[in-house]
Amino acid sequence: MSELAIIRDGGMLIRDGKIEFVGPSDEIEKKSRGTEIVDVGGRVVLPGFVDAHTHLVFAGNRLDDFERRARGESYQQISKAGGGIWSTVEKTRAASDHDLLVQAKKHADWFLRCGTTTVEAKSGYGLTVEDELKILRVMRSLNEQSPLEIVPTFLGAHAVPRAVAQAILPASQDSQTGLSASRYIELVIDEMLPRLAEEKLAEFCDVFCERGYFDVQQSRKILSAAKELGLELRIHADQLTNSGAARLAAELKATTADHLEKTDEQGIAALKKANVQPVLLPGSVYALGSSDYPRAREMIGAGLPVVIATDFNPGSSPTPSMPMILSLACTQMKMSPAEAITAATINAAYSLNRGDKIGSLERGKLANFSVFDCEDFREIAYWFGMPQTHSVYVRGERIAGF
Ligand code: NIG
Ligand code: FE
Repeated sequence: MSELAIIRDGGMLIRDGKIEFVGPSDEIEKKSRGTEIVDVGGRVVLPGFVDAHTHLVFAGNRLDDFERRARGESYQQISKAGGGIWSTVEKTRAASDHDLLVQAKKHADWFLRCGTTTVEAKSGYGLTVEDELKILRVMRSLNEQSPLEIVPTFLGAHAVPRAVAQAILPASQDSQTGLSASRYIELVIDEMLPRLAEEKLAEFCDVFCERGYFDVQQSRKILSAAKELGLELRIHADQLTNSGAARLAAELKATTADHLEKTDEQGIAALKKANVQPVLLPGSVYALGSSDYPRAREMIGAGLPVVIATDFNPGSSPTPSMPMILSLACTQMKMSPAEAITAATINAAYSLNRGDKIGSLERGKLANFSVFDCEDFREIAYWFGMPQTHSVYVRGERIAGF
């Protein structure tokens, strides 16, 4: 992970949206007769970032949660008091397809501006059959209308919806009872999964495996059903408590286990044995005001192909910025700048089954790349909180310049 193949004074020859040749500029120039030449003036050129964990489609924001956290309340306290995932679900349900798409386009532009050209995006703010499908269809439209490539993941098991709890237990204020959960899990397995599989609306299925959301047994049930329908698996694992979710990811041969703030040595060993890629999300640790970062060094030491991602969402990680995540990876998780770049590009591409098409600048791959206003790639992680993106290209087309 710490070896980047850097070409000084390098260049690329691009044809039909793909990279045809990579090498020293003078060699490229000889091959480039008659083609348009773009001189980026000695700036750093990197593969477009691949953000392997986002919640890109939602309505509104969570400014009130943000302010409450600033006053010292925790994520779980705020959720119990009417904020949290549920408040975004209400706004997302109320939004029309058009309004959701308009807001999603705004988010997509933010990603592009930060140098990201591919994102995984999760549903999970609908929690009814129609609302989950609505979100996944918005992703499909966004994919058609924005240069940002979207890889869709179904996260129907993000939370147990309150309406389900109330319909079954009218007297109960508690949405997290076993009974309501099991009724909702049936809905996810019997109705949502078959519908979205039929419409081919998702490549992956994810579950928020966490105390108060879906426990290990419930998560196993949902993920096993998804696997039978041909979906691959990603899991929100051990974010707030060490519940054995990393071991579940290993047992089910999930593609990724994400978060892992509370995962211990046994969990790390299980991931390694089963070849599950860890996706680390330091933005959510930072934004929740915690200091409990996942053990990136131990994971890299164990030989795991670590991925870093933004976890872009309105509650726990309101950032689309991979450069910010690079900074956190280096300062808080002690990854080297080179390891962080690997984690945000080629490792992330493999975690989305696209390692042969994106994630590095190699012959035959898509010409998705970003140009940064600096001379050394380490500056991207070093100067934090300052945009350094100069221009962004998708399939050889310049789609953003600053
Ligand atoms: O990845 N952990 C669960 N899901 C998100 C938070 C979503 C929200 O708060 O709206 C996460 O941190
Ligand atoms: Fe998440």
